Formats: sequence, C-alpha cells, structure tokens
Amino acid sequence: MPINDILKIISTKRDKLALSKDDIAFFVRSVKDRLVDDSQISAFLMACFINGLSNEEVLYLTQELANSGHVLSWKGSMSVDKHSTGGVGDKTTIALLPVLSAYGFLVPKMAGRRLGYTGGTIEKIELIPGYNVKLSMSDFVKQVEKIGIGLISQTDEIAPVEGIFYRIRNHTSTVESSQLILSSIASKKLAVGSNFIIFDIKSGEGSLFSDFNASKAFAEDICAIMKKFNKKVSYIISDMNQPLAKCVGNRLELWEALSFLHNRKPSSLDNLIYNIFANSYKAYHNLFDEDKISKIYQNLFNEDKVIPKAIEWIKNQGGDPKYVEKPDRLLDGLEKTEILSIKSGYVQSMNVKKIGWLGHYLSDNLDGGMSIMVSIGDKVEKGDVLAYVYGRENLCSKDFDLISLINIKDVACPKRKLILDSRIL
Ligand code: URA
Repeated sequence: MPINDILKIISTKRDKLALSKDDIAFFVRSVKDRLVDDSQISAFLMACFINGLSNEEVLYLTQELANSGHVLSWKGSMSVDKHSTGGVGDKTTIALLPVLSAYGFLVPKMAGRRLGYTGGTIEKIELIPGYNVKLSMSDFVKQVEKIGIGLISQTDEIAPVEGIFYRIRNHTSTVESSQLILSSIASKKLAVGSNFIIFDIKSGEGSLFSDFNASKAFAEDICAIMKKFNKKVSYIISDMNQPLAKCVGNRLELWEALSFLHNRKPSSLDNLIYNIFANSYKAYHNLFDEDKISKIYQNLFNEDKVIPKAIEWIKNQGGDPKYVEKPDRLLDGLEKTEILSIKSGYVQSMNVKKIGWLGHYLSDNLDGGMSIMVSIGDKVEKGDVLAYVYGRENLCSKDFDLISLINIKDVACPKRKLILDSRIL
C-alpha cells in the first residue's frame, strides 16, 4: 500500500538522505492521484525546505511536476516564453507579446495572478471587457497555432501537482526555498513547451532577491536546469529598486502597456522589451548585430505591425479591441489628483514594496492606480509633481501617503541602470 512508501519518502528527506528519481516520481504521482493528504505533502515540502535538494533531486522534481499534466509542444517553431520573478509596475508581458508575435515568434503564455506586493498579469488583462483568461487547453493551442499568440491564466491542466504544492507552500512557510522555487517555475515553463525561455530576474528592494549576486546565482541555476531539458535559454537581470516604467495599479498598468504599443513610452519599458526581443532574435538566428536587430525592432512599430497583432490577439480571446486602439478609454471616469513635492532635492530611493501595496489598495478599492513621474536620481523642486493618483471617486479627501515612499534629499544621486546583466546561454 502506498502509505508506507510515502512515509519512507518523507523520512528519507527528513533524515537528509537522497531521494531517487523513482521516489520523486512515486510521490508526485501519488499526489496527482490524491493518495497523499495535505499533511503529508506539507511534511515533504518542509523536509525539502529545511534539508535542501541536490541538483539531481531538483531535476527529477522539475521533470515530474512538468509531466503531471499536459506538456505542450511547439516543434520546430520559434516559440518564446518569458518569465519574470515579479516586481512592482511590471506590465512587460502585455506589451511584449504582440511585439514578439509581430516579428513571427510564437508566444504561448501562461501567466500568474498577483503574489504579495507584486502585480499579476492576469488581473491587468482581465480589465479588457470580454477577455477570456480561461481558454481550454485545446482552444489555447488552436489559437496560438492560428495567430501565434495567446495569454491565459494558470490552469489545472498544466503542471497540476505544482499547483497543489504551491498552494500548500503558501500555507506552510515553505515558499522561500530556492530549490522549490526553481522546480516550480521550471516545471511550468517546460509544460507550456516553448523552445526558448528568457528569464527576467529582478534585483533590488522590490523583488525576491535584493542582492545582485543572489539574482545572478538564481538566473544561472534556472537556466542550467532548462538547458538539461534541451531548451534555449537567456536571462536578464533588471533593477527593481523603483517601479518598472511609471504606472502601478492594474488599470493604470494596462493603460501604460497598451499605450506603449502606440508610442514606445516610457523608455525604460522600451529598453526592457527591446532586450527581450534582441535576446530572442539572437538565440534563434545566432546573429549578434545589434544595429540590425535594433532596426528590425523599430520597423515592427514603424511598419505598423504591432497594433494589428495586438488587436487580433485580444479579439481572438473575446476582448474588446477598442481598448487597444485607444488605450485612453481605460481611464474614462477616473478622477486624478497630483502629489506635489514638499521639498527640493534629488530622489534617492523609493519604498518599492509599499508602493506595490498601495497599487493593490488603489486597484481593489478605487479601480485606480498611480503614475510616478520621477525616477531615482532626478532633481525635483518643491511643488513639482511627483505622481498622479487615479481612482473612481473624489480623491482630494484621501491621504495616500505616497509622498513618504519617495525619499528626497539635498544630495545628488546617480540614476539607476535598468538592465544590470544580460546573457544568452
Ligand atoms: N513563482 C512561482 O511560480 N513559483 C514559486 O515558487 C515562486 C514564485
């Protein structure tokens, strides 16, 4: 009867011994078949958390989690998947997919909801009326094969045991294990099946890793795992000491992402999207001529290829394309108020996590958000606009205390680079 085997597997990890491929396969299969209860899964995960997993164990676990549901395959295609470790103001996926697809990359994407102070792609795209984030697996595959692009929320059909693990990890303080995080992310990427995966690993106070070296170590580890499964991989390490681009809060971020398709602004978002495009191009063409790649990227916009692709995508998923045509419509009916600087000086730092939480508050309670008009290193005068706050009611009576989250001092401070590292492996 499995129960003895399950107990043996848990005690093996508890006693710091190595789990075999068969042990891990058996455990994952038993979870899938509901033969293991939540307390046993918790014990297993806690043992993994405390005693760690070897590289082999992470590899086996990743493979079994990926194989616990459908594994998609886009054979022979230039398929691209991007994973970000999450940050504040990170609306990259929504702006990126039509750009990659306009070039001819296939972009099947399964995205998550928000986690802690970081935003989720799904809450943003869902604000387009009619947009269906829950396509069946066969409709998702058909759409991607037909038009080259699809964005859905996480589904039980893809890596379902990873979903069970993740739910339990969230309730048992076992999220912050780099090996469990690696197998969790890598298994989902494997199951979605793209041939090239690019990891945008955030580094800074508003991210999982505050330290650059920790971000880099994680980037190298996850790329090493994916390479073992014969995937092409790349990573970018990007700064998360201030929100990405200007907007924070679902509606504002969706507006910024869709506006980007028209005007390539703000430049920070353009910089990140260009780098992801360029690494995808280099990985598939083995061609590293930056001038040429940059021209190809610019031409996607100049030759008006990006917006028609975005419209096709949104329409195919049931969404109203008028929000792609005119993103400003997303802001209809929102009140807007200015947050003015109460002193002169230079922006030194931002409390990114608290800005992320404030973005959630504004999204959940006022269907709004904020647009932060300054970046670290900017000089500001007393009375300058630091930010605009948006919401669906009179905002003047409310104090959001955003001003205390932007630290201004009388000493000059360097601007921050967004792209801290970029590799194709
Ligand atoms: N994101 C994931 O998908 N998994 C983790 O374990 C952590 C962040």
